[in-house]
Amino acid sequence: MKVILLGTAAGGGCPQWNCACRLCTAGLPPRTQDCVAISADGAGWYLLNCSPDIRAQILATPPLRAGPGPREIPLRGVLLTDAELDHTLGLLMLRETRGLPVFAPDAVLDALSPLRAIIDGYGGWTSFVDLPGLRVDVLPVSDKKPKYAPPGGEGPWVVAYRVTDLRTGGVLVYAPCLKSWPDGFDSFVEGASLVLLDGTFHAPDEMAGVGGPDQLAMGHLPITASLARIAGRPGRWAFTHLNNTNPVLDPASAEHAAVLSAGALLPADGTEFSL
Ligand code: MLT
Ligand code: MN
Ligand code: ZN
Repeated sequence: MKVILLGTAAGGGCPQWNCACRLCTAGLPPRTQDCVAISADGAGWYLLNCSPDIRAQILATPPLRAGPGPREIPLRGVLLTDAELDHTLGLLMLRETRGLPVFAPDAVLDALSPLRAIIDGYGGWTSFVDLPGLRVDVLPVSDKKPKYAPPGGEGPWVVAYRVTDLRTGGVLVYAPCLKSWPDGFDSFVEGASLVLLDGTFHAPDEMAGVGGPDQLAMGHLPITASLARIAGRPGRWAFTHLNNTNPVLDPASAEHAAVLSAGALLPADGTEFSL
């Protein structure tokens, strides 16, 4: 299975347009919003989440570009982990295609019905059946609802995906939004070739520095907590969905060095894995 990290930042990307914090003004390599492309055969591709940056992400990634037919595309579908706008607004950007298949938990599909109603006026979207050559397992990981969603609504609101390549046996776990280390997660990641973890925040009080919203309510387990869980465990671990307040963004920081020395990766946009 080929895995391409199209974007590795949390909502807003880095730098974020309305932010003049130290990291947003440090001239670091920019990161676009979290989105991953996977393929069993290198010809048909699935997106894990669909960021508002998807147009630029596709154009920057040769295997995802249109062709050889004039309107032929290699995208076969989108799987959503949650209904947050940084993970879903790209579906609007992909409106020029016809009936793109979308898979998501029921609560997420319900929350996105206004977006879907708009997209239905263009190409629409269909639902998903299966992914040739890949097996997908789904684990509910959090009840964190998007801010825009009306009260009520049964979850699960956030899931993680475990994708197994049936030919190579390679396994990707994609968990960019983890409120806690959830029940069942240890066995969900067992034997994975690569685990992409929620790296939104490094520390539990990081948003205080920019006067941001209540960080706990945002539902992201900080890296300091997940590093303790993965220390000494076999496997390849990487953090994605990095918020622009996260000091690990700076390769010269002690926090960045601590993540690497714990054996985890902080891959840049465009990083590719073969599992
Ligand atoms: C999140 O990951 O917590 C959300 O993307 C935040 C947001 O977009 O408001
Ligand atoms: Mn997000
Ligand atoms: Zn910032």
